[in-house]
Amino acid sequence: MAVEWWRDAVIYQIYPRSFADSTGDGYGDLPGIVERLPYLRQLGVDAVWLSPFYLSPMADAGYDVADYLTVDPLFGDLADAQRLIERAHELDLRVIVDLVPNHTSDEHKWFRQALVSEPGSVERARYHFVDGRGEGGELPPNNWKSIFGGPAWTRIDDADGTGDRTQWYLHLFDVKQPDLNWDNEEVRQHFDDVLRFWLDLGVDGFRVDVAHSLVKADGLPDWDEEQAMLDGLVGPMWDQDGVHDVYRRWRKILDEYDGDRSLVAEAWVADPERLALYLRPDEMHTAFNFEFLDCRWDAAEYREIIASTMAADEAVGAPTTWVLNNHDVLRSVSRFGLTDPGSSHEGLGSEDEQPDNEAGLRRARAAALMMLGLPGSAYVYQGEELGLPEHTTLPDELRQDPTWFRSGFTRVGRDGCRIPMAWEAAEPALGFSPNGARWLPQPDAYAELAVDQQVGEDGSTWELYRSALALRKELALGRGTLEWVDVADDVVAFDNGPVRVLTNVLGSPVALPEGCEVLLSSTPIDDGMLPTDASVWLRTS
Ligand code: GLC
Repeated sequence: MAVEWWRDAVIYQIYPRSFADSTGDGYGDLPGIVERLPYLRQLGVDAVWLSPFYLSPMADAGYDVADYLTVDPLFGDLADAQRLIERAHELDLRVIVDLVPNHTSDEHKWFRQALVSEPGSVERARYHFVDGRGEGGELPPNNWKSIFGGPAWTRIDDADGTGDRTQWYLHLFDVKQPDLNWDNEEVRQHFDDVLRFWLDLGVDGFRVDVAHSLVKADGLPDWDEEQAMLDGLVGPMWDQDGVHDVYRRWRKILDEYDGDRSLVAEAWVADPERLALYLRPDEMHTAFNFEFLDCRWDAAEYREIIASTMAADEAVGAPTTWVLNNHDVLRSVSRFGLTDPGSSHEGLGSEDEQPDNEAGLRRARAAALMMLGLPGSAYVYQGEELGLPEHTTLPDELRQDPTWFRSGFTRVGRDGCRIPMAWEAAEPALGFSPNGARWLPQPDAYAELAVDQQVGEDGSTWELYRSALALRKELALGRGTLEWVDVADDVVAFDNGPVRVLTNVLGSPVALPEGCEVLLSSTPIDDGMLPTDASVWLRTS
């Protein structure tokens, strides 16, 4: 039997508003993506994952969905989505779309209906509407906080001014992202329909947003500990056992379709064993390995995380995924360029430590070769293949991430990793749009990293990714098995089939074994020594 594609696929994340703008309004769109799909074929990835492009007031860049079955006019229309899927398939690229089931937009028709309905009504039952505490209900129902800052509850007349002040609604994220009530059968049924709609249109799978938060603990009890989502913490709002019923139900739907459709979980949970529960044979297929993304630049830590995540996944028969970047975290070049490399994934502003992007790029390239040498599936976030750094000096007045506003301007948020792509160095907006329009400006450093500066250039980061992807495919590394090799404390070393992968993490130079062939390296190797902060792929047999 052919191996299911999602077991070893390299999946490229497209952030639609920042990929390619075909209209000149400064926002990327679906036709822009279609035009650039051959670029992804050339790079050699197997699939794309698109962040949300559904109808949305864009309070959280589209993760606030007003209608799951409609494309937002900013990005195009449904025919564009269909064309994108067809064109991708012609190019032998699979398509994964984002599904945002934890919350809708407050502009979703359900929420609007709920606001003008009575407490206890079926309209309110689709969300978490709860009476306030205190004599006049003037205190929120519990002490939960929003991930973006401030309380996780809003008293309803704040939203619509009806004067009915008895109830509050829950929003783990922005005030414009009310949480759905997943104990409600109508909610479950609606998402069955949403899945079917996109599956019928031909998508190959879904990335499930905040997959660990749909079900909340009974009674919504207070929680005094930290609850920052991207740190994989516990609490009554995260990782409740009841959530697995939802994924069993979805798995049955996907299994009705041909072509190995798949589900990937975005779940920041406490440990690899909890994550693997989402990957049991009758649930999801894969999950983002955020332990790997969050690993400090430290060889022992990498060894530990690679081993423990693979062991947990193997126990349920699932492949492990590898990821260094996405639209929520500091880009790896800048993360690895911090004084304590990899210590934080929070966005940076002008007042923060400015990373050493040269050192960071060296490490990010080494990390990429380590990642792409591992068995399993891997993710590449747009611009990662160019070695783009974070925009760390974005003017505050341009920021759009709700984190910035809801944190009272104390956390700069994620705009710096969402900057428009750099295609052609000499074109306006670096080729992102036809007329130079762009929703956020690219930093100066992006010009020399643009695609047209790197394709075909020996030693460029783009060529490193392209070569690694080609070799990975040729040697079936994604389907291989890992065997640890003992080289030195500071070296992550393993064999995957015929390839030995070595990554020197902050160590002194190490001699390569005699008689082996260097297939690929993240920095030039000329004296038979692997320098610090570098990776190499060797052929050992
Ligand atoms: C996920 C998304 C993030 C979004 C949040 C709320 O973490 O990746 O961008 O803000 O969910 O939907």
